[in-house]
Amino acid sequence: MTVVIINQQRKPIMNIKDSVVFITGANRGLGLQLAKAALAAGAKRVYGAARDPKSVTLPGVIPVQLDVTRHDDIAAVTREFRDVTILINNAGIVRTGGILADNALEQARAEMETNVIGPMLLSKGFAPTLQTNGGGAIVNILSVLAWYSQGPTNTYSMSKSAAWALTNGLRIELAAQGTLVLGAHMGYMETDMTAGYDMPKVKPEDVAAKIFEALAAGKEEVLADELTHQVKLGINADVPAYIAAAHAAA
Ligand SMILES: NC(=O)c1ccc[n+]([C@@H]2O[C@H](COP(=O)([O-])OP(=O)(O)OC[C@H]3O[C@@H](n4cnc5c(N)ncnc54)[C@H](OP(=O)(O)O)[C@@H]3O)[C@@H](O)[C@H]2O)c1
Repeated sequence: MTVVIINQQRKPIMNIKDSVVFITGANRGLGLQLAKAALAAGAKRVYGAARDPKSVTLPGVIPVQLDVTRHDDIAAVTREFRDVTILINNAGIVRTGGILADNALEQARAEMETNVIGPMLLSKGFAPTLQTNGGGAIVNILSVLAWYSQGPTNTYSMSKSAAWALTNGLRIELAAQGTLVLGAHMGYMETDMTAGYDMPKVKPEDVAAKIFEALAAGKEEVLADELTHQVKLGINADVPAYIAAAHAAA
């Protein structure tokens, strides 16, 4: 069982060594690096969930079948894995085309199902288990694009803004049971998701390390790179990034 200590800011400090971590989309990209980071931090058990459990090959990780858009799958895993103390909602998709594209409804629905509704139902389903196990934590992998839209990925930004609101709502509703809710924002990472984009990117292993550092310190938000810091700092500017992007597009 996870030992929860209350520090002076009254934030729970996670003991990663005693933790049982459940990661969605753990077969590749950031999810794989989060699984490695969990093992490196000494997690007692790591469940690596993926649509195809055979694609979870990291030694020490227990493969679990889970498509986060399938509500039956979510019901099954939340029923079965009663030892979980840290849920990491990492699985995500991006669709391009924008809000006015012919297929925008289909694209936006797919992003909302994967990036928002899946994490919502997993958090709801695992909440009683986290409570029974001492509080634990939920980590939601968000994005700098929760605070900034840049054109082709506008429907993705819609989903990440909603996932940010989900994170903030969960933090309120789970406060009484002592569950730490950590929102992790980052810019572009070197994963398959950004394979076609030529721009500065951070390494997913560095982002994963920062997320586990933040978890261990009981933090509720982590900004994993410089771009994300800049965008968040600029939210109070006269022309924040989310408005400047429209001026640049004019
Ligand atoms: N890459 C970036 O620049 C960036 C920046 C900010 C935030 N993020 C966020 O970081 C997270 C991880 O992304 P990534 O960069 O590692 O992307 P990635 O390399 O494309 O990996 C996406 C992961 O999500 C899984 N996934 C997608 N749909 C799923 C579903 N319905 N059920 C279960 N698993 C599903 C994929 O599994 P399959 O192998 O089965 O497809 C894969 O494991 C996402 O939430 C993403 O939005 C990424």
